[in-house]
Amino acid sequence: MEKFVIHTEVFAFDQPEELALTEQKLLEAATEAMRDAYAPYSRFKVGAAILLENGVVIKGNNQENAAYPSGLCAERVAIYACGANYPGIRIISIAITAGSLDFASDHPIAPCGACRQTMLEYELNQESPIAVIMRGRSGKIYRCEGIKQLLPIFFHEDGLKVR
Ligand code: THU
Repeated sequence: MEKFVIHTEVFAFDQPEELALTEQKLLEAATEAMRDAYAPYSRFKVGAAILLENGVVIKGNNQENAAYPSGLCAERVAIYACGANYPGIRIISIAITAGSLDFASDHPIAPCGACRQTMLEYELNQESPIAVIMRGRSGKIYRCEGIKQLLPIFFHEDGLKVR
């Protein structure tokens, strides 16, 4: 038997002001996006904002549907919009904020597994990390250097090929 120990890093900040200015602004853009989320069923609004290397910010938010599984998370709405509108433009970072309409959400919200897998493929393709900044409606802010920090063991396209 062999045991692998996986090392990952998450940095926690008390205030947005501790982040670089570009990331503070990205967090604000994610908060704006969160307000416009369409989440009448879960009443849990998520906003994402992606900074591209050309300076453009792309927003996304969760979009729900009465046929529940048809909805999509904020992170994928945002990253697919990048792929659709800015193909080949490198992604620098993504900020994610979330909160319930019914109770205080004072801790960072981490992206779901499907969103991690999706974002990781963009990171692998562009061969440079996509920083992730996460926050609830208030409280601490978490920051990871890249998507791999959130998904150290992942499904790779190599798995689809004969070796
Ligand atoms: N949601 C996101 O937008 N991102 C995540 O990473 C997790 C969950 C959304 C999906 C659904 O609209 C609501 O939050 C409750 O799960």
